[in-house]
Amino acid sequence: MKKYGEISPIQSPIAAERQSAKRHYGVHPYFTRRPHNVVRKYILHYSKEGDRVLDPFGGSGITAIEAFLENRVGIQNDINPLANFIAKGIADLVKGEIAEYEAGLRTLREACKRDLEELGRLPVEQLEDFTRRLELPRNVTLPKSSDVEHYHDLFSPRQIASLAIIRKAIDSIRQPYARKGMLLAWSATLAKLNRTFLSADGRSESRGGSSIFSIYRYKVAKQPVELPPWKTFEERASNVIAAKVEMERIIELKRRTAGWQGKFEVHQSDVDELSEKFTSKIDYIFTDPPYGAHISYLDLSTLWNCWLGTMPSMKARRKELIVGGELEIEEKTYTDRLGRSVEDCINMLKPDRWLSVVFQHWNTDYFDAILSSAAENGADLRAAVPQAGDTIWSMHKKKGNESVLAGELILTFYKTGKPLVRATESKNFDVDLAISQILAGSPTPVLYGENVFNQLILAAWRKGSIGSLKITKDEFNELLVRRGWRYDEENHYWVKELLERTLFGVSA
Ligand SMILES: C[S@@+](CC[C@H](N)C(=O)[O-])C[C@H]1O[C@@H](n2cnc3c(N)ncnc32)[C@H](O)[C@@H]1O
Repeated sequence: MKKYGEISPIQSPIAAERQSAKRHYGVHPYFTRRPHNVVRKYILHYSKEGDRVLDPFGGSGITAIEAFLENRVGIQNDINPLANFIAKGIADLVKGEIAEYEAGLRTLREACKRDLEELGRLPVEQLEDFTRRLELPRNVTLPKSSDVEHYHDLFSPRQIASLAIIRKAIDSIRQPYARKGMLLAWSATLAKLNRTFLSADGRSESRGGSSIFSIYRYKVAKQPVELPPWKTFEERASNVIAAKVEMERIIELKRRTAGWQGKFEVHQSDVDELSEKFTSKIDYIFTDPPYGAHISYLDLSTLWNCWLGTMPSMKARRKELIVGGELEIEEKTYTDRLGRSVEDCINMLKPDRWLSVVFQHWNTDYFDAILSSAAENGADLRAAVPQAGDTIWSMHKKKGNESVLAGELILTFYKTGKPLVRATESKNFDVDLAISQILAGSPTPVLYGENVFNQLILAAWRKGSIGSLKITKDEFNELLVRRGWRYDEENHYWVKELLERTLFGVSA
């Protein structure tokens, strides 16, 4: 591989593969999972075997797991215990034998069978008595935005009882890695056996999802969908075993060719305190920080953290990078911390190394915080690649409306160590002109609004005017309409009207 400084940055979008990797999709749900093939390409491009690759906002661990499987030291960090439980749980699937996991599942089936059958037969009036003998989690208070007040209200009596039966039986599996694997499957089952699970219209009952992942709050179904507990768990356990088989195969191939020495580290720290944990610096960082008020990760992870006994401390909750949430964290705090997290990343990197940050938002101040912090701390923006239009990256867009984001930017910086001395802020940025130029340069008559907005941000940044680019989403939309572009509600993109009429024969 070339010297780090000689790497030409990735300048084009990478198409997201369908959710093919069993290790990331189907094992355990998490919020905003990034396409693993895109992350892996970035890791392979910007780092070498044996390098230390960090994701300080690691989520479900895509970056660290892919780095680990690609012979690097994958370093996962997240303030959310659930995220680390998933990431470490997946990484640990390389341990133990496949047969031990299969035996673990059989042991579990035997251990639960009688109790689950008895529970299935019990009339409603006897459920309370039955449940009293079981070990249940604490009944903590839920965030204010939830439909119900307490944790136990998230479950029907049968759901909470069956989950408790399976959870207890997992302790009877003797082999430690098989036991951990089954705990991962059980935790994933929690997402389906609770009252926030809503069946998808017109599909079988088990197809659907939790409101936690679609509308990002605890909305409960009036009539709980009572999925069969063992079958639901068994499906997850099979997915865990399939992920193990897949990971073994990847490693096996590496063992036979280059030799495999991948390592996996996990930290549970506020990004601002993370550098204290390291004795040596990092070779590459790929990360996507939380986007403003989009998702309250800690609040929404209570469903898992409570039962797993990993509820985050108040200190951690105060440090979550978010706007709002249960602790009503202010926007200014978020923006300051976002900028500081970029500074932290640059400080953790070795000199002459690369940092990629995935981001998208309609608020220009957030971009300003990222870009200014990088420049002031000696990292030069070398690529800004829009990932617009990908089916997976735009998934949330389909569920929502115009205000939901599609098409993140991957901003890649090179650590020169020389802070950029910026010219005095120019207030003369002509938004109208910039938008006209961007639209004129568009090779297609169909555009994602976010894509144009990203280009506008970068144009303002290059002119040293991002601080004065105060444009709301409505004003931005208005500018597109004035130039003859129409928002397509169904497909969530913009179409050039004139062309639409001539090309597709649409009447005015
Ligand atoms: C956008 S998600 C990352 C998703 C991840 N890329 C994936 O593919 O699963 C952002 C993550 O940042 C975490 N987070 C929020 N505030 C943090 C902080 N102060 N320090 C470290 N992690 C934080 C959240 O818990 C969340 O998992």
